Amino acid sequence: MNNIIIKDLSLTYGEKQILEKINLGIEQNKITAIIGPSGCGKSSLLRCVNRLNDLLPESKIKGQIIFDGKDIYAPNVDVVEIRRKIGMIFQRPNPFPKSIYDNVAYGLRINGVRDKGKISDIVEKSLRDSGLWKEIKDRLHSTAMELSGGQQQRLCIARALTIEPEVILMDEPCSALDPASTFKIEELMVKLKEQYTVIIVTHNMQQAARVSDTTGFLYLGKLIEYGNTKELFIKPKEKLTENYISGNFG
Ligand SMILES: Nc1ncnc2c1ncn2[C@@H]1O[C@H](COP(=O)(O)OP(=O)(O)OP(=O)(O)O)[C@@H](O)[C@H]1O
Ligand SMILES: [Mg+2]
Repeated sequence: MNNIIIKDLSLTYGEKQILEKINLGIEQNKITAIIGPSGCGKSSLLRCVNRLNDLLPESKIKGQIIFDGKDIYAPNVDVVEIRRKIGMIFQRPNPFPKSIYDNVAYGLRINGVRDKGKISDIVEKSLRDSGLWKEIKDRLHSTAMELSGGQQQRLCIARALTIEPEVILMDEPCSALDPASTFKIEELMVKLKEQYTVIIVTHNMQQAARVSDTTGFLYLGKLIEYGNTKELFIKPKEKLTENYISGNFG
């Protein structure tokens, strides 16, 4: 079942065409990977899905993104609500200069949750779900800035989970991490898809092949090919995809 349907989505920044007529169905409780060379529009596409491009005054969108049966670009849509339901994890972990506990509790507090017992239950659950609990349970009140990069990224994932999103967008979440931390995040993604729909942008084709169910190949703002990950990597339909995955161009 599709959780998100992207219909004829085009994006321009000023005069520049960034995405052109993208059509894509994102399956619920699956991991969808978006791959493609630098500058092809992967991050821009991801940002369209939780309306982060709205923050860029030059950007203009055509087409639709249907989520839970409604176009997220329709008038009267509550953008804050969209961003609550569709969380985002960035390339560089971005913990706040606060304690581990306060980082994770942040989303709950700004959403008006006051009950201390409830907050601490949800903080623990999110830290367990993000695989960080065992490593940090004895230093919840130390600063998050002391964590390793991989731990910080899992902390950011825990922080995103507290407000119960339906979809988690990840823009190259492992590109600043070593192989061991990358492995942990990949394991985590596979676990997360039981409860969430995950879209990941990655430069790392092995990663896309390892973790995703479905892969889309973007090139110069166009979706060249989209389908089952194994099929796309073993037997791509398009010559461009084949060239890209075999490393014939950047
Ligand atoms: N704020 C902006 N204003 C104008 N152009 C932008 C802006 N952000 C991105 N672009 C342009 O949009 C195009 C797509 O950029 P985007 O960041 O989506 O690519 P990407 O596929 O994520 O690349 P990378 O793999 O390097 O992260 C690029 O040509 C980029 O220069
Ligand atoms: Mg990018």
